Amino acid sequence: MPTILIIGANRGLGLEFARQYADDGWRVVASVRDVKQAADLKKTGVELHACDVTDFRQINTLAQALNGIMLDILLINAGVCPDFGGLADLKRDSFMNAMAVNALAPLQLAKVFLHHMTGPKIIAAISSKMGSMAENSSGGSFAYRASKAALNMGFKSLSMAPETKGMITVLLSPGWVRTDMGGPTAPLDADSSIAGMRTVIAGLTPEDNGRFLHYDGTEIEW
Ligand SMILES: NC(=O)c1ccc[n+]([C@@H]2O[C@H](COP(=O)([O-])OP(=O)(O)OC[C@H]3O[C@@H](n4cnc5c(N)ncnc54)[C@H](OP(=O)(O)O)[C@@H]3O)[C@@H](O)[C@H]2O)c1
Repeated sequence: MPTILIIGANRGLGLEFARQYADDGWRVVASVRDVKQAADLKKTGVELHACDVTDFRQINTLAQALNGIMLDILLINAGVCPDFGGLADLKRDSFMNAMAVNALAPLQLAKVFLHHMTGPKIIAAISSKMGSMAENSSGGSFAYRASKAALNMGFKSLSMAPETKGMITVLLSPGWVRTDMGGPTAPLDADSSIAGMRTVIAGLTPEDNGRFLHYDGTEIEW
């Protein structure tokens, strides 16, 4: 039975990833920031752990709790979007938290969980088209865009790091999806977005290492 670790799975896209992989017969290990807030995830029957990704001690504790479990996929989904507006929304604390959650934590998680992976295994982080320079035609969302662009650069380097040799490191964009973050007017439902990303993940080959892919499998310009 293949094993996936999903980071940030109590609601939205992470919850739907957990549901679909569990329904498909995978061993799903999932982390949430607050286990008490994970009632929907508990219903899926997946293995549940606590981890606030801004706290490196909690990341290390999670890795220790999973000692001996080898992962086929490390999927880093946790993310925050503090600002859909313009410069008026720019605040130091929320900018730094977006950087910590969206850009720094995925690298630290990859660093720690590399020890749970050997061979052509997959390290995937959920990014966003809003982190693409080429796709930025409307500006705004300074913290979110900057943090996802930093994630993209970090994971591009991770894909070339000697420690990930033989693995497949990718960035995935889910599209604009109806979740707490995406809002009720987003065109995509979580079911379709996750089904699309799961198809992309299932089709990954070593040639895809370091790519930035949309949920429909098309490549996104950096
Ligand atoms: N929805 C979209 O349209 C869209 C588009 C592009 C990219 N994305 C990306 O897709 C991913 C999932 O988004 P979503 O739409 O499902 O958002 P969401 O409904 O707001 O869920 C965000 C998830 O991230 C978790 N999280 C936030 N801060 C965390 C922390 N410090 N430690 C651990 N977990 C933390 C949340 O946990 P809590 O419940 O504890 O806060 C929650 O599970 C994010 O990376 C987002 O940037 C979404």
